[in-house]
Amino acid sequence: MNTAAEWIDLSGKVAHVTGGAKGIGRGICRALAMAGAKVMVSDVNLAGAQETADEVAGDAMALDVTDREAVDRAMQETVDRLGSLDILVNNAGVYIGFGGPVRDITDDMWRTLWSVNVDGVFYCCRAAARHMIDAGTRGRIINVSSTQAVSPGVGVTYDGSKAAVAQITKALALELAPHGINVNALAPGPTWVQEGEPPPTNTQAPARSGEPLADTVADRIYRLPAGHWGDPMEQGKAVVFLASEMSSFVTGIYLPVDGGWLTL
Ligand SMILES: NC(=O)c1ccc[n+]([C@@H]2O[C@H](COP(=O)([O-])OP(=O)(O)OC[C@H]3O[C@@H](n4cnc5c(N)ncnc54)[C@H](O)[C@@H]3O)[C@@H](O)[C@H]2O)c1
Repeated sequence: MNTAAEWIDLSGKVAHVTGGAKGIGRGICRALAMAGAKVMVSDVNLAGAQETADEVAGDAMALDVTDREAVDRAMQETVDRLGSLDILVNNAGVYIGFGGPVRDITDDMWRTLWSVNVDGVFYCCRAAARHMIDAGTRGRIINVSSTQAVSPGVGVTYDGSKAAVAQITKALALELAPHGINVNALAPGPTWVQEGEPPPTNTQAPARSGEPLADTVADRIYRLPAGHWGDPMEQGKAVVFLASEMSSFVTGIYLPVDGGWLTL
């Protein structure tokens, strides 16, 4: 390698991004493609995944990460269709409709969220690790956690699931390091995912609702040091770092990309 630009170059690499139909996942797909990677975009929303894939000249497939057998098939299909599996980004996750006070959390809400945010991450990590180890690929696995893993606010269901993702990441990093596979967690702070709609500006202090969870989050967004919501592409840039030679000696970390949220 002769230039630093080569460290960031992902030409010849194949990345599988789950939940890539919109939001942060779409930003990650765009950034990886800009760095030269071939991207397999998967999502339960196939139309959205196809839209992302068309934009980044990648490929798309329907995938529900809670379906263990479908996950195994999807990782194999990525190799069959694109030639290898070098980078896995476990981005698919749910939170809307699952937060709030503990007294209102139903068994169904708890199980549904954990099956996507935790079981899904585990199934994808396991399937990808099998491929990478068998192929001798010095791969990268990037699990999307959240600042809520260490600084709660959405509620027990989501916050707990993202802490689990952070610790699964560390355990896997330890186990897979001898295979040359780096495993890291990305911890996004507030990131605006309504494409086409401008994010709200933080010019007015939020009215207090009296509900601690909601008030904590609203107050922190208002006081966010960066002064504005994050953009999905800002998460994508950090994923390119974690997927590239730039981070060759980085494994097992929890990387906040949060505009200073965790300084508050
Ligand atoms: N937006 C934020 O502020 C923020 C902050 C911290 C962490 N995160 C995390 O980032 C990730 C992406 O969040 P986002 O805000 O872009 O969400 P989003 O709702 O905009 O997009 C999530 C995508 O995941 C897909 N998905 C949902 N369930 C799935 C399943 N079972 N299998 C496959 N795909 C599935 C959805 O169809 C959607 O395309 C999530 O893991 C989320 O927890 C987001």
